[in-house]
Amino acid sequence: MSKKNRIVTVTMNPAIDLACTVSDFTAGKVNRVESYQTDAAGKGVNIAVLLRKFGLPVTVTGFLGQDNAGIFEKMFREQGLEDWFVRVPGETRIGIKVLDPRTETTTDINFPGLAPDMGHVEELTAAIEKLAAEASIVVIGGSLPATVGPETVGELVTVIREQGAKPVVDTSGPALRSAVDSVPWLIKPNDDELAELVGRPLKTISEIARESWRMNRSGIANVVISLGARGALFVNDEEELFATPPEIEPVSTVGAGDAMIGGLVAGTALGLSFRERVRLATALSAATVAQAAPSLENLDRARKLEDRVTIETISL
Ligand SMILES: Nc1ncnc2c1ncn2[C@@H]1O[C@H](COP(=O)(O)OP(=O)(O)OP(=O)(O)O)[C@@H](O)[C@H]1O
Ligand SMILES: [Mg+2]
Repeated sequence: MSKKNRIVTVTMNPAIDLACTVSDFTAGKVNRVESYQTDAAGKGVNIAVLLRKFGLPVTVTGFLGQDNAGIFEKMFREQGLEDWFVRVPGETRIGIKVLDPRTETTTDINFPGLAPDMGHVEELTAAIEKLAAEASIVVIGGSLPATVGPETVGELVTVIREQGAKPVVDTSGPALRSAVDSVPWLIKPNDDELAELVGRPLKTISEIARESWRMNRSGIANVVISLGARGALFVNDEEELFATPPEIEPVSTVGAGDAMIGGLVAGTALGLSFRERVRLATALSAATVAQAAPSLENLDRARKLEDRVTIETISL
């Protein structure tokens, strides 16, 4: 039996999310916070937490600020995540979300991120190389710190593949371009990220489908394009599927993309068919949108939604 059953997620620019509720939030005056919550977050971290709900063995890595790592370390212990994060001087950034229930608006205040240097990038690359040798799938999620060049993502994809693991990438802009050029196993841009990648607007589903098909034939085994409430398009070597989520009462779209990746990765690790993975991923992301928190407490709501996902084959 191969020992390659571990899943690794990489978060190079994590954040501590501070969500607070302020009725009638107004700039330039004193605002009173009614309730608040802090969460250790970041795309790879969120995906890792979801994967643990399936009982899968997961290691997390990336960059963490050494001055405020406590909230992450506590969460990793509670969730049973193996911690391989490279510690970097300074603090992991904080992202403040001000939710105003009266006007139903959200105001984001984003702090600058960490500044890992070349030595830190080398340390992370060495960690990923070691981990990938024992892993089935390595997920790279989220943006990059300003000091890390986009080519790093493509280099990591190559390192992961050479160690016999499947590289999955969810990022945008030049980092996504770099990843695609190194041919990962799965990508999941949304429609805007795909348009930026191909350098022109894509207006219809069939235009999006043709681009996805082209990328699949260039070697990316799974090309998934998420389209918000409309659902998502899934292309592999054999099939082109369109999944429409069940209608739910949307509460917060934060974490929808992470839930979709988590579902696809968990489904792969559990040996589900392509269609079953599509169904699971779509139900998980709909369940995540139906709640305020960015990641699911358990799988119950998603399991109930699975039967209501519609999947159709699309023709190109
Ligand atoms: N209102 C909704 N109802 C049901 N499902 C939804 C809704 N919004 C999003 N989803 C599901 O979540 C998936 C991912 O959403 P979306 O396309 O917005 O991802 P994203 O833009 O990558 O989001 P993010 O990166 O911010 O998490 C969609 O493909 C869809 O299946
Ligand atoms: Mg996304």
